[in-house]
Amino acid sequence: MDLATSYLGLSLRNPVVASASPLSNTVDGVRRLADAGVGAVVLYSLFEEQVRREMAENARLAEAGAEVFAEALSYFPADADSDPGPHRYLSLLERAAAAVDVPVIGSINGTTPGGWTSYAHAIQDAGAAAIELNIYYIPGDAHTTGREVEQRHVDILCRVKDAVTVPVAVKLSPYFSSAGEMALRLDEAGADGLVLFNRFLQPDIDPETLAVVPAVDLSSPAEARLPRTWISILCQRVRASLAATTGVEGPADVAKYLLAGADVVMTASSLIRHGPGHATVLLDGLADWMARKGYASVDDVRGLLAVPAGTDQAAYERAGYVRAMRDANGAHRPW
Ligand SMILES: Cc1cc2nc3c(=O)[nH]c(=O)nc-3n(C[C@H](O)[C@H](O)[C@H](O)COP(=O)(O)O)c2cc1C
Repeated sequence: MDLATSYLGLSLRNPVVASASPLSNTVDGVRRLADAGVGAVVLYSLFEEQVRREMAENARLAEAGAEVFAEALSYFPADADSDPGPHRYLSLLERAAAAVDVPVIGSINGTTPGGWTSYAHAIQDAGAAAIELNIYYIPGDAHTTGREVEQRHVDILCRVKDAVTVPVAVKLSPYFSSAGEMALRLDEAGADGLVLFNRFLQPDIDPETLAVVPAVDLSSPAEARLPRTWISILCQRVRASLAATTGVEGPADVAKYLLAGADVVMTASSLIRHGPGHATVLLDGLADWMARKGYASVDDVRGLLAVPAGTDQAAYERAGYVRAMRDANGAHRPW
């Protein structure tokens, strides 16, 4: 069975990729994911705010220490202003890339133009096979226009592409008026890959404590329908690789994303829920399914159920919607 695939121009042994999550917080974690068989590992994101907070804390400690003991400064980086924050991330990346024989992809969540580019450069130098831009932007200012939000994505991509030579993927949210056009613009601007879709943290409210509480829920397979729909539409329309993320729980979810046209299928929730060894379950199950269906390679499967090029997409979507509603009405008849 040939599970080999290509993603961002990289040759992968199979299409199951560990997406950014705390499982890749340590070299050991990355090694466990690789040992379980994944085709590549995306490291958790380097968050610019976190780096800045750490820098500020280092500077504060250095200052406080210097007032008490002259030698205290030796406990801190020689130049606290010289951005020691990413050091831990870059060191992890360097060691992880050396420890495993699958590509390790760095991930950035920046806030400033300089942050995106300088961290991208540093991540490339640390040995990342590629870079994923985790653009987690919620336009809290209600006056921000949709076009401004879109342009921000394109600008970030273009700046990073100018700064590095390794492939660059953009991890997108689904929250655009026209997610398809956004994808096409990023493709034209040179994205090597599109990762569909990021899941945003949506805080909850506790009515007892009257507090806003952070909520990081793991996903369920039903959530895969939205990214799968867009992958099936974009599959034959963009040059960029397509990575699916959200809602993989079992091998069937991997197969469905491949049928829709994904080049790779990422998973975080299932690996967190069941442990890194679950990657082996996904891969064995995928190979079993392919054997049962008579497919010899991932290339035979990919895009079989994508929206065919040249289809009138509006009509296609409308027809699907009308059929789905008719079936739903039939299935939910009143007693
Ligand atoms: C606990 C947790 C931490 C995550 N951290 C990151 C991160 O650092 N960077 C990122 O781009 N995505 C992060 N994600 C998002 C995942 O990479 C993934 O895109 C998302 O969870 C959808 O995939 P899933 O349904 O397989 O979980 C995180 C997800 C979880 C559950």
